[in-house]
Amino acid sequence: VSIPFALSLRDGRAAGLFWDNPARQIWDLGQTQLDEWKLTAASGDIDLYLFVGPTVPEVVGNYTRLTGRIPMPPRWALGYQPCRYRYETAARVEEVAQRFRQRKIPCDVLYLDIHHMDGYRVFTFGKGFPMATELMKRLRSDGFRVVTIVDPGVKDDPRFGVLNRGLEVDAFVKNADGTADFIGEVWPGKARFPDFLRAETRAWWGREQAALTRQGVAGFWNHMNAPSNFARPDKTLAPEAIHRTEHGTLPHVEAHNLYGMQMARASREGSLAAAPDQRPFVITRATYAGGQRDAVVWTGDHSSTWDQLRDSVQMLLNLGVSGVAFCGGNVGGFPDNTTPELFVRWMQFAAFTPFFRNHSHLGTTDQEPWALGPTVEAIIRRSIEQRYQLLQLYYCLVAEARETGAPIVRPLFWHYANDPIAVARGDQFLVGRDLLVAPVLEQGSVARAVYLPNETWYDFWTDERIEGGCHHLAEAPLDRIPIFVRGGAILPLIGAAQNSESQDLCEVTLNVWPGLNDGFVWYEDDGETQAFDQGDWHRRRIRLARQGQRLILTLGAASGPRASKVQVWRVILHGIPGKARVSVNGERMDVVRMPENRMIALDIPNSSGEIRIKYGPA
Ligand code: GLC
Repeated sequence: VSIPFALSLRDGRAAGLFWDNPARQIWDLGQTQLDEWKLTAASGDIDLYLFVGPTVPEVVGNYTRLTGRIPMPPRWALGYQPCRYRYETAARVEEVAQRFRQRKIPCDVLYLDIHHMDGYRVFTFGKGFPMATELMKRLRSDGFRVVTIVDPGVKDDPRFGVLNRGLEVDAFVKNADGTADFIGEVWPGKARFPDFLRAETRAWWGREQAALTRQGVAGFWNHMNAPSNFARPDKTLAPEAIHRTEHGTLPHVEAHNLYGMQMARASREGSLAAAPDQRPFVITRATYAGGQRDAVVWTGDHSSTWDQLRDSVQMLLNLGVSGVAFCGGNVGGFPDNTTPELFVRWMQFAAFTPFFRNHSHLGTTDQEPWALGPTVEAIIRRSIEQRYQLLQLYYCLVAEARETGAPIVRPLFWHYANDPIAVARGDQFLVGRDLLVAPVLEQGSVARAVYLPNETWYDFWTDERIEGGCHHLAEAPLDRIPIFVRGGAILPLIGAAQNSESQDLCEVTLNVWPGLNDGFVWYEDDGETQAFDQGDWHRRRIRLARQGQRLILTLGAASGPRASKVQVWRVILHGIPGKARVSVNGERMDVVRMPENRMIALDIPNSSGEIRIKYGPA
């Protein structure tokens, strides 16, 4: 992934610099001279954009206004997604699927890596997957979506239809002299590389991909699109290989960083052509600035080590402030054997990342949630369930990211740019505005220091109130990841279920902690079609304000033609010790005090008009 964009922060003031040039670049940011940035590129134009904030959200908002924002994904894309290199038969995939359901571990998406293909020929199913359409149907009826890997290298086999149809439209990257196709080598052996910079190639690729859609494949895992080529020491295409674009020809060395992005674009456009009403789901390993418009980005093959878990946190935060709001990692690590402890800590963290997918290499320790014993399984089930409880929050945050470019998972400096300690902490993050997560990143740790910026916080697990502006030592036994909520937080939770589509919104628990909140936008739509784009959505702003001794939680009047699925808001008011007085739209309400004694609950039937809940000590 190459995104030539940088953010600078000085005394809380942010600015951004984007050099729109896909050629190889070197950014020396104070490495040689402390106060100097030195940018060099091997070729290309000097198209520089400077974004003057002064806030971080403004800089990233403007950068994404220029380069694009994420599309609305299908809701199921926010669910849990296990993947493994080496499920060689349909029977094995079905066995894994059944295990998820038997063991009551929520799961939405299953992945097929290269073994599903016929001799690694792209867009085919091989001997291990004889009746692919029926397999997809069975898995679908059990609530799973299937995503297949799609590598760009097309096997150079004269009997292969995909290759021949590609040759008919002259789809492939050429050798330096522009006559013959460039031949490299990937999993299928000798292969040609579609020139995704050409519109004709993208259209043809989309038509080929449609064969998978017809068989019931729900999304596409665009991989090896760096692009990878085993036949050269630099593991990619020859720098002088030729791409033909509508703006003239380009040597590969200048097109290299665009290749993965243009492949993802072909995949998204092809998905839309094949099923115009559905929201495409495409993930890509390689991309360039702006690639967030087409695909989810994951951070490639991390190994199963503590160092790489730590890197993964930073990489996802960096991607988020570089426009790629929907991103994730190879959870658990790809090469090397994971350990139970590392796996638990990685899963606890990843359950908060926007794109939540495991992946592991052939021959390494299994990483299905049950593979590392019952203790690990129980902890992981709870993490995955918690993700599903938070799924509606993630959906609202995805809708926000689509509109504003704000990342779903944010570095502390997104909201606390004036606080130098917050700015420097790359090992904890915010989910939206209100939730602060501090993953455990050290082997053997049972506690960790968490920096809480200067306002009131509550420990999510115990409701303990903590004044911020300091480090706090958080308990973190193996079954707990430190989480804090901001005073003023409004946290919607829904019931976990076996997958996202069987979750209902009938009863939504709104957890509220005392403080101020200028609001988050509650958002609903049908979760899978493009109807939202024609205005078929429902939204309302939920805010928390103070009036003297009392707090006022307001669910603003709903807008949009769509009816909400919520029937009852179960409002849980935290941080109100002793007797409380509560009124809803001016009428006194009976409340239930929860056993924890720090919370009171009330059930409010939903209505589309404004709902005002006023509360405080009696
Ligand atoms: C490469 C990829 C890995 C994938 C494997 C097989 O090693 O990096 O993610 O599983 O190829 O497709």
